[in-house]
Amino acid sequence: MKAVEIVKPGTIRIVERNIPKIKENEVLVRVKAAGICGSDVHIYHGKNAFATYPRVVGHEFVGELVEIGAQVNDLQVGDRVAIDPVVSCGQCYPCRVGRHNVCKSLNVLGVHRDGGYQEYIAVAGTQAHKLPNTIPWKIAALVEPYTIAAQVMERGRLVVDDTVLICGAGPIGLIILQAVKMIGARVAIMDIVETRLKWAKEMGADLVINAKTSDLAKEMMAFTNNEGASLIYEATGNIEILETCIHNIASAAGRVVVLGFSTEVVKIPQVDIMSRELEIIGTRLNNNKFPQVIEWFTKRLVQPAKILTHTFSFEETQKAFELAGTNPQDVCKIVLEF
Ligand SMILES: NC(=O)c1ccc[n+]([C@@H]2O[C@H](COP(=O)([O-])OP(=O)(O)OC[C@H]3O[C@@H](n4cnc5c(N)ncnc54)[C@H](O)[C@@H]3O)[C@@H](O)[C@H]2O)c1
Ligand SMILES: [Zn+2]
Ligand SMILES: [Zn+2]
Repeated sequence: MKAVEIVKPGTIRIVERNIPKIKENEVLVRVKAAGICGSDVHIYHGKNAFATYPRVVGHEFVGELVEIGAQVNDLQVGDRVAIDPVVSCGQCYPCRVGRHNVCKSLNVLGVHRDGGYQEYIAVAGTQAHKLPNTIPWKIAALVEPYTIAAQVMERGRLVVDDTVLICGAGPIGLIILQAVKMIGARVAIMDIVETRLKWAKEMGADLVINAKTSDLAKEMMAFTNNEGASLIYEATGNIEILETCIHNIASAAGRVVVLGFSTEVVKIPQVDIMSRELEIIGTRLNNNKFPQVIEWFTKRLVQPAKILTHTFSFEETQKAFELAGTNPQDVCKIVLEF
C-alpha cells in the first residue's frame, strides 16, 4: 500500500508500506478521504512542537472497514466510519474524570503516531464511528473538524442568549460560526481576509469585522450595546488578539475560549480577570464528540459543503499543502481522496 510520509520538515514522499496487521481490539480501515488541517501543514513545515519524524500525518479521515478484530462486537466489514484520532491511557487524572482528550500521555493519530494519509490504517474499534450512506466521503472527512466546534461549544457553555465573538474566519472559525448559528446566538466574526468574511456573512454571521480596516473593540461595543461579548472564541492563534479580547471586549461574567497554541507569553492584568470574574477556558481536540457531530451531519444541522473548497488525490498531497499554506483568499478546507 501507499503512504504519504513526511520524512523530515520540508520533505514529503509517497512510500510503499506493508498493510498493517490488526490486534484483537482493532479494525482495519481502507481510507477513503482525509482533510488537510493547519496542523498537518505545520508538521510539514517543522512548526508543530508535538510532532516527531518520519510521520504519516492526517487526523481528519474516514474510510471503509475491511477487517474486524475478534474482540470488536459492534462493527462489520463494509461499515463506513469516521475515526476519532484521540488515543488516551484511561488511567491518569484527566482520563479518570472523563477528560481523556487532555490525557497525560495523549497520542493523536497523525501527530504523535502515524495517521490517515495512507491507504490502510489499523485503529481501535472504539475509535471508529459509523457513518450513514447519505454522507459522501469528502464531506464525511470534515466530521473531525466539526468535533472541534462541538468541543468549544461545551467548553464555553454556549447558549442562545450569548453574544458571541469569533476571532478568525479560517476553517475552524467558520465551523464554530455554523455551530453558533445552529444554537441561534448572535455572533460577530473577525478576520483580515475579505473573502473569508464574505463566506462568514453567507453562513449567517450577524456582523463581520475586518480587523485591518476597523477597530475590533469599538465595533464589538456597538454590537453589544457597550456590554461586551459574553462568549469569545479566539481562533486566530494571535496572542495580541487574545489580549485585546480579555482586556477590551469580554463582558463581565464572560468566557474566553482559547484555541490557538502559540508558545508566546500573553500579558493580561490580573485585575481584568478578577474584577469581571472572567473565565479563560482552554479547549483541545474533542472529548467523545463524534456521535454528536455525525448526528449534525445526518440531520443537516450544519453545512460542511460550504467549508470544502478543494479536493486532490492523495498522491498530490505536496501540491495541496502548498496551496493550503499560500492562498487564504480562495482556499478554506482541502480534502484528499484515496
Ligand atoms: N484547540 C484545538 O483543538 C484546535 C483545533 C484546530 C485548530 N486549532 C487552532 O485554531 C486556530 C484556527 O484554525 P484554522 O484551521 O481555522 O486556522 P487558519 O490559520 O486557517 O485560520 C486562522 C484565521 O485567522 C486569521 N488571522 C490570523 N491572524 C489574524 C489577525 N492578526 N487579525 C485577524 N485575523 C487574523 C487568518 O486570516 C485566518 O483566516 C489555529 O490557531 C489552530 O491552531 C485549535
Ligand atoms: Zn485538524
Ligand atoms: Zn490518560
